[in-house]
Amino acid sequence: MILIIDFGSQFNQLIARRVRECHVFCQIMPPSISIKEIQALKPEGIVLSGGPSSIYEQKSPKTDKGIFDLGIPVLGICYGMQFMIDALGGVVKKAKKREYGFAEVNVKSHKDLFYELGEKETSWMSHGDSIDKLPSGFISTASTENTKFAAVADRKKKFYGLQFHPEVEHTPKGKKMLKNFLFNICKCKCSWSMKSFAKLSIEQIQEKVGDKKVILGLSGGVDSSVAALLIHKAIGKNLTCIFVDNGLLRKDESLKLKKKFKKHFNINIKFVNAATKFLGALKNVTDPEKKRKIIGKLFIDVFDAEAKKIKGADFLAQGTLYPDVIESESAFGGPTSVIKSHHNVGGLPARMKLKIVEPLRYLFKDEVRQLGKALGLDDEMVWRQPFPGPGLSIRIIGDITKKRLDILREVDALLLDEIRTGGYYRKLWQSFAVLLPLKSVGIMGDKRTYENIIAIRAVTSKDAMTADWAKLPHKLLGRISNRIINEVNGVNRVVYDISSKPPSTIEWE
Ligand code: XMP
Repeated sequence: MILIIDFGSQFNQLIARRVRECHVFCQIMPPSISIKEIQALKPEGIVLSGGPSSIYEQKSPKTDKGIFDLGIPVLGICYGMQFMIDALGGVVKKAKKREYGFAEVNVKSHKDLFYELGEKETSWMSHGDSIDKLPSGFISTASTENTKFAAVADRKKKFYGLQFHPEVEHTPKGKKMLKNFLFNICKCKCSWSMKSFAKLSIEQIQEKVGDKKVILGLSGGVDSSVAALLIHKAIGKNLTCIFVDNGLLRKDESLKLKKKFKKHFNINIKFVNAATKFLGALKNVTDPEKKRKIIGKLFIDVFDAEAKKIKGADFLAQGTLYPDVIESESAFGGPTSVIKSHHNVGGLPARMKLKIVEPLRYLFKDEVRQLGKALGLDDEMVWRQPFPGPGLSIRIIGDITKKRLDILREVDALLLDEIRTGGYYRKLWQSFAVLLPLKSVGIMGDKRTYENIIAIRAVTSKDAMTADWAKLPHKLLGRISNRIINEVNGVNRVVYDISSKPPSTIEWE
């Protein structure tokens, strides 16, 4: 495995991704990791990530210099390289000219990191500090117009540094450089695959859980579904899933899930119909944050009550993914300001005093999809668009009533049908309908109507952090509008949301 030490760069996840794309397992750890912990991980190589600090600032992040005595190859990227140079006796100073964006790199040595690369390569820089003097043993292996030490190496000790970012797409040959590090320098093997991950993971679950019982909140989304399948493969009937129908789900959701998980996979599932409870608690509530809080709290109450009925449950399983882990554990980026209180099962573990099983903790979303496929989940489940915990409640602006939910459910089903038929479902991050608290005048069969307005939201995105409104063909939009107005009673107007995130968010509330 490859250990990535996190100095706070926004690109750390990208480094991890690139390494995994090469079928090598890796883990991101904070700089506070001890030498003992590092040795226990037995890494074949260590990557020191970039970061926003300057090495000469007092509070700049540092890791134990003992990593340079372990005999393990090290690749320092940007701040990571500067940390290494400083730690080994070199000098890092504020650069005369800062470099941001593209820079042409003149490669001086084609060994090691630059094996099979050209004389000149494009790189992407983002730094205000540069190396002024190298420690003994190091040489410069590449330079740019402004930076003498764009790449450095101590070949004997297998220490390498890059001032630019090989992990970003703007460094086109960056992946080849990383591959050179992994395979030529660290001698890693291409052994990481979803099948091997599944096998290892099943063994780890069995070891951790033994013959105890596990409960899991199944939502029908990709993450909890894959977690359920994996744990079921490990411990069979000792897993009980709890599915809470909050009355805010899409059309036939509960039924479909029953069919898939209970009948097809033979997984223990408790279906809890709590729709009346949720709708009662949401009566006359229109404030988005209030809605979210009410739903979050009630979910925990309902789940907890059900879980208590399962005798001898010691573990709670969660479909936490790697980006969630990094977000909450990142060395420097504490939680950003609350834009929306996300409702997952965040409050559960503390309240229920159960031990946690998180088998997807080191995976990215697309890896979870691959794992789902490897475990036999069908494409429909594997490629599901995300659906928020508070469900349709945050897509009904204003009062939530059974009638309005029914209207939105019908519209949503029609919309998704058209998006699927048009071949757009997998191309979009999300596509959904929003019911507005407004009415407009229309005319149907010579009669005046005064009905609801639906807004269609369709976005493309890689990670939901940013998103662009989808440029759906007018023909498709026309068909969607036509079908909604003709087939759903109570709607006489459809509009298309053309806002991106930021400044808007994906969901309306
Ligand atoms: P926003 O609206 O913040 O949404 O741009 C970003 C992504 O998160 C989803 N979302 C949620 N997911 N619980 C979830 O599990 C929630 O409370 C929640 N709120 C929003 C949203 O659908 C989008 O994919």
